[in-house]
Amino acid sequence: MKPDLDVAATLECEPELLRYLPEILQDFDALGSDPPRLIELLETQGVADEIRTGLDICSGKGATSIALAKRFGMHIDGIDAIGAFVESARAAATNAGVDELCRFTTGDLCAAVTRAGSYDLVVFSSVGPILGGITKTVAHLMMPLRSLGWILIEDSVLLPGAPVRPGFEAHAELDETRRRIEKSGAGIVAMCKFGSEAQRNDADMSRIVRRAAALVARRPDLADLVARYVERQREECDFLERWTQDVTWLLRKPNA
Ligand SMILES: C[S@@+](CC[C@H](N)C(=O)[O-])C[C@H]1O[C@@H](n2cnc3c(N)ncnc32)[C@H](O)[C@@H]1O
Repeated sequence: MKPDLDVAATLECEPELLRYLPEILQDFDALGSDPPRLIELLETQGVADEIRTGLDICSGKGATSIALAKRFGMHIDGIDAIGAFVESARAAATNAGVDELCRFTTGDLCAAVTRAGSYDLVVFSSVGPILGGITKTVAHLMMPLRSLGWILIEDSVLLPGAPVRPGFEAHAELDETRRRIEKSGAGIVAMCKFGSEAQRNDADMSRIVRRAAALVARRPDLADLVARYVERQREECDFLERWTQDVTWLLRKPNA
């Protein structure tokens, strides 16, 4: 199988900018996920004790894997396509004292979702529709799981009246998203909604702008490419704030 989106598309950048992205995003540990929300969801549902092993698909710099290992002592395997992110994840796990619990590998997510596995938990956080719409995505995420295993997803849903935006064609409003998840066969155990945080988005945007400016100062030939990326990030933030809501889902694979 091939992912429905390429790596650059999941990071909203042009392919030529991909190799510079680790530099632009160097101030971020989490690349979209909000690990405290995921931890709180597992705690409030009281299911963490049933989870010893997890697979964090598209783990980025490992923020979620490391948080789960630290809080619950879970063994987490993370996989991500970008080698520089994987190296950052390994260093961060060592700094956090959980390098014995976290194993990060560079690779394509397709390898992870096409082989049957026996993980207790699969995490898919801020990755979007790389595997297609949510029904197909959840069906794939069940592959590496044992029977009755858990899935944590962080994604956004559209608010009523949201305009069509490239990259969000596969998204839907909350009720429709729920219906589409149910079609996958997974059970919905819990769902939490969060408003988009304007203040946090502004702070994130400032960090991106600062690192982008430093890159262009060193490499003026990249000015147009970087400017297009920054502009797109701004538009994306505006769209997310105005037209979407963050949602965290806890799902369960059915008994075989
Ligand atoms: C928006 S980031 C989210 C990362 C992480 N889950 C987090 O929230 O910090 C999306 C991640 O997906 C990874 N990615 C995109 N396509 C991939 C693929 N085909 N296989 C593995 N990783 C991929 C990117 O390298 C990037 O780190």
